[in-house]
Amino acid sequence: MKNRFSIVLAFLAASITSASAQSFPSHPLTIVVPFAAGGPTDTIARIMADRMGRALGQTVIVENTTGAAGTIGVGRVARATPDGYTIGIGNWSSHVLNPAVYQLRYDVLTDLEPISLIANNPQLIVSKNGVPAKDLKGLIAWVKANQDHVTQGTAGAGSASHIGGIFFQNMTGTKFQFVPYRGAGPFMQDLLAGNIDLAFDQAANSLPQVRAGQIRAYAMTAKTRIVSAPEIPTVDEAGLPGLYIAVWHGLWVPKGTPADAIAKILTATRDALSDLAVQHRFMELGQEIPAARPADARGAS
Ligand code: MLT
Repeated sequence: MKNRFSIVLAFLAASITSASAQSFPSHPLTIVVPFAAGGPTDTIARIMADRMGRALGQTVIVENTTGAAGTIGVGRVARATPDGYTIGIGNWSSHVLNPAVYQLRYDVLTDLEPISLIANNPQLIVSKNGVPAKDLKGLIAWVKANQDHVTQGTAGAGSASHIGGIFFQNMTGTKFQFVPYRGAGPFMQDLLAGNIDLAFDQAANSLPQVRAGQIRAYAMTAKTRIVSAPEIPTVDEAGLPGLYIAVWHGLWVPKGTPADAIAKILTATRDALSDLAVQHRFMELGQEIPAARPADARGAS
């Protein structure tokens, strides 16, 4: 009798698990952006959230949990309930540089499960319009002549924008002041206002402002020019050969998220990335969608 009772209980538990797997997602999901609203990670997250939400049949909310160069937001995802409803977006900055620079309370390799690479963009070396330099060599000369006063915005100590500036300093023998913000969105506001001089900024954030004539671009940190901005030279062409920086973005969920939820999120991610409207928007923002994404090896359909 006792045995039969246990079998019924096990059967009920299995049915509940399978029903909840089938119904995932039954309520809105959240994509946690570890940087401020209005920046490149936020822009990419909002494009993905909108399209993934349609694929999943649920709203995907974008939540900006900012601070400490992205570590607060990534920590929030690492500690979230692993039920598929919390997804983290991050980049080379938040998921590679931060663990290399900081002692963290989470481990990106053991506390998070990668879903997919999304897209990749170089940085642009940009300045406020008030800087008199006309090209990269002129900018380097101007920085050398004014290094006690020159300022560069960063998305926090150890972020990609900070590391880009450090590479630039090392390669040009210059020194200037870094000013940390909660992301590239806020430092762009100060660059536009002329409160800071320089930025090493992802194309997704700076290209729209360059096109609008609000800031000046000197070079991009890539071997080849961006299709949607062919007028901007590469660092090799502009006189700083080899300063290549690619800032890729990807999606993660907390470790322990059920496989069926991961498969559905991956399918929605693939749907979004193969949508021509998303591809066009990414192309305008200087994003390159990688042909092969590592998490594809999961084989989810
Ligand atoms: C942001 O959205 O603020 C950026 O992705 C920060 C960065 O440069 O890593």
